[in-house]
Amino acid sequence: MGYILTIDQGTSSTRAILFDEELYQVAVVQEEFEQIYPRPGWVEHNPNDIVLTAMSCVEKVVKEARVSFKEIEAIGITNQRETIVAWDARTGKALYNAIVWQCRRTKDRVEELRQSYKELIHSKTGLYPDPYFSATKMEWLLKNVPEVQNAAERGTLRFGTIDSWLIWNLTPERLHVTDYSNASRTMLFNINTLDWDDELLELFSIKREFLPDVVDSSAQICHSIYGPIIGGIAGDQQASLFGQSAFNPGDMKCTHGTGSFLLMNTGNKPKFSRNGLLTTIGWKIKDEVTYAVEGSIFASGALVKWLRDGLGIISSAEETETLAKQAENNGGVYFSGALAGLGAPYWDATARGLLIGLTRGTTKAHIVRAVLEYVAFRTREIVELMEKETGIPIKRLLVDGGMTRNNLLMDLQARVLGIPVDRSMIKETTALGAAMLAGLSVGLWDRELLKDKRKSEVVFTPRGREMEEEYLRWKEAIKRSMNWET
Ligand code: G3P
Repeated sequence: MGYILTIDQGTSSTRAILFDEELYQVAVVQEEFEQIYPRPGWVEHNPNDIVLTAMSCVEKVVKEARVSFKEIEAIGITNQRETIVAWDARTGKALYNAIVWQCRRTKDRVEELRQSYKELIHSKTGLYPDPYFSATKMEWLLKNVPEVQNAAERGTLRFGTIDSWLIWNLTPERLHVTDYSNASRTMLFNINTLDWDDELLELFSIKREFLPDVVDSSAQICHSIYGPIIGGIAGDQQASLFGQSAFNPGDMKCTHGTGSFLLMNTGNKPKFSRNGLLTTIGWKIKDEVTYAVEGSIFASGALVKWLRDGLGIISSAEETETLAKQAENNGGVYFSGALAGLGAPYWDATARGLLIGLTRGTTKAHIVRAVLEYVAFRTREIVELMEKETGIPIKRLLVDGGMTRNNLLMDLQARVLGIPVDRSMIKETTALGAAMLAGLSVGLWDRELLKDKRKSEVVFTPRGREMEEEYLRWKEAIKRSMNWET
């Protein structure tokens, strides 16, 4: 019996998961690490924490499962996307903290880009100028961090998303690579020509030599320091699309992690949105590129973490369910969870969180319920947008991710959408997708066999679409939370 090891490096935690050849989850180890908020709207991670938690999770998971590295056929890597690390190739040391996808520090630069380059950027990358993507973060590092400037002058500067940073640290040769799905989130990668785009590199003053080579999402990339070959790399949202076996155009999923991300497979040609959805590369395997459209909600699980760690009004994530149940309804309280700005379809980096409708009778149960409703309402907005843009009616929403354990949220989601919400048996579809990609590269299975791997655990079936009035009222709250930060 062989195993596949996945490293899932997410925004809030790092996980190592061991799957067997039947794709059953044998063991999982998870470690959280520090979130650094140097200023309002800025978010950073310590790059060493990222590597150390990955290594520690790998060692622990193997030990826990009593498996030796020799029994591991391949390693899959999946990661929080867009987050950028700058390091020096001579020393292998990071030159600054990782600038996290949620970080809004480049919002002024993005404003300028929107005036003059919106169309150019969109037509080449499928993305809209936003601090979310890596390009303006790299530009910021080059302009503001002397160590980064010096390394650039010496020619030893390396930039990479988290997959690149991990692979650099986990391969004896110190490989500098990324895969197509991650590259497509940098705002420097041309998704039509499948190469770094010279015009965009010039726009952001980034030299090609700073950037990684782009490899397939499923390929025998290089042996790791542990022995087994790295056989799969994908950004976490694309990995979970793969893990949901969404192999056909029209297949879509929604992952509720730190943020919530809805992706629809659109086949072998990019489909450019006119209404705020992103076009992205799902994966590239051999000569076949699969594209997807995506709608992003920047904070969802992060909101629960904020209720717990920031406000202290709950003591565990599970409590959101019990508390929200205590309130029959939201008591007139509406929430805009724009703590890190708003993604699709608004793309407003200046939007900030808003709680409105508070009265003397408002309880914390109402507030928690309003936060859950925010996630359900935002998801509805994006589902509707996807239907409008693709002309494909969405009859069922496939969901995964930690927050889907909340049955109240799932039920609410089904009622708000008016379609069944189908929760996957494996919540870790992100890790599963990366394992599937890794196993494919070493011939453990083929695509045909993977088609049947997805199993539902529960389907939340609504009687019809409900909460129409609340939805419209909530949209008003969203409007009021926009254009806030100056
Ligand atoms: O684009 C950001 C996304 O990849 C983060 O995912 O799972 O860390 O919320 P997650």
